[in-house]
Amino acid sequence: MSTSRTARKSKTFPGLRSGESVRVLISSARVKTRLKQLAREIRGDFPSEPLHLIGVLKGSVFFLTDLARELGGEVSFDFLSVSSYGHGTDSTGEVKLIKDLDVSIEGKTVIVVEDILDTGLTLKYLLRFFEEKKPKHLRVVVLLDKVARRIADVQAHYTGFVIPNEFVVGYGLDFDERYRNLPDVCILQFAARGKAKTA
Ligand code: PRP
Repeated sequence: MSTSRTARKSKTFPGLRSGESVRVLISSARVKTRLKQLAREIRGDFPSEPLHLIGVLKGSVFFLTDLARELGGEVSFDFLSVSSYGHGTDSTGEVKLIKDLDVSIEGKTVIVVEDILDTGLTLKYLLRFFEEKKPKHLRVVVLLDKVARRIADVQAHYTGFVIPNEFVVGYGLDFDERYRNLPDVCILQFAARGKAKTA
């Protein structure tokens, strides 16, 4: 699903720093509706399988917990953490494992849950990492796909929204750890320096 419709509304909320502004790209209501569709699609592909969700910290936390509750049936989950970005809005492209999985995924139907697919370098690393652990099925669901930024030849099996090349925050996504708690997916802009650098 594409986000051809870009909301113009600027949002204010406690915690918004001076010189920074956000405008809604995808409202929490649209996220919720799309999430139900994604859950139906995933469950439709694996109607009677226990699903093991793997959340990639930290951005995927809200997406995973909301999706898990929509999926129905037997669901378990685990988290791992990788680092691919430094502070700010630039990607270094470097992927490092920071926290490993707690339980084995061998023989399980695994759904990797990512908040955003950007260059694809993180997902490429993760897919290789998970495939070595011999899951029964390995699928990827991403909430947001910034297709224009892709470097690695990877794609998700299930995609919430294709988004433009803008720096987005909210619904788990951050800028220097801030704005994750915004309910909507928003475009971050810096008033003083003009538009935020895209990443
Ligand atoms: C984001 C996102 C993905 C990765 C995607 O994580 O959650 O893991 O970047 O980017 P890529 O496709 O260019 O590799 P980030 O490093 O910002 O960490 P966070 O989830 O803790 O915010």
